Amino acid sequence: MVAKILDGKAISAEIRAELKTRVSELREQGIVPGLGVLLVGEDPASRSYVTAKERACEEAGIYSEEVKLPADATHDEILGVVRKFNADEKINGILVQLPLPDSSMEQSVIEEIVPEKDVDGFHPVNVGRMMLGLPAFLPCTPHGVLQILKRSGIETRGAHVVVIGRSNIVGRPLVNLLSQKSDLGNATVTMCHTGTKNMAELTRQADIVVAAVGRPDTVTADMVKEGAVVIDVGVNRVEDASKKRGYRLCGDVDFDAVAEKASAITPVPGGVGPMTITMLLANTVESAVRAHG
Ligand code: GUN
Repeated sequence: MVAKILDGKAISAEIRAELKTRVSELREQGIVPGLGVLLVGEDPASRSYVTAKERACEEAGIYSEEVKLPADATHDEILGVVRKFNADEKINGILVQLPLPDSSMEQSVIEEIVPEKDVDGFHPVNVGRMMLGLPAFLPCTPHGVLQILKRSGIETRGAHVVVIGRSNIVGRPLVNLLSQKSDLGNATVTMCHTGTKNMAELTRQADIVVAAVGRPDTVTADMVKEGAVVIDVGVNRVEDASKKRGYRLCGDVDFDAVAEKASAITPVPGGVGPMTITMLLANTVESAVRAHG
């Protein structure tokens, strides 16, 4: 079998076009959705993610405002920016790009964001509401994965999904959402992580495999059932002297080999990545609607 490529860029473009129309309707009512972005330090990957998010806002008609702090910014300085965004009526969504240079600050910074502006869905209030199946901002990458499946006509109901990775940003929320009694879920879900024994035995039973680990070649062809759907959330920089930038991007899946066995697969780049940004835009628009509701 040769896999169908699940084109996250095309699905994103479709959703972004819907959002753009929605934003122009809101603008006619005097509502301009706004995103406040905080970038701490000079990490090149974070810089490029933030630039991509701001560009996507502009294209959708969403106002965005960036604050940059040096890598040695204090905890108080970071909290100060979050509080300023919390109080600013132009700002409906707040994005603190992670990781922070001092990762020990992350949880307290996330908790300083008012839950109504937590468009990343990382605040414990939103995490808890999501867990309970209550209306909440869903974290962008897991929500993007669900949208790829839904808009590609891949049924999750009754499917056995194996999620590899237990991060708070991707693996854990995805396991929760996929197992909920909803039209985006209703799956039987197995979570694998570094403590899992015989991972290949579990992944070979999966109708859908999701890899969210951050390590190339975590999923190889022998780990995948013929005809399975494979979603690759990983974005890894691998040294490659033949590239102008000195590296190439790859996911967590051995793409070429797995694509010969799977029925559908997301590429890296151009799979889940663009969806993450798109769902951030969707949450920001939703927040603006709620703020004026
Ligand atoms: N770093 C990697 N992914 C994300 C994300 O979805 N949101 C934020 N704020 N930082 C990230």
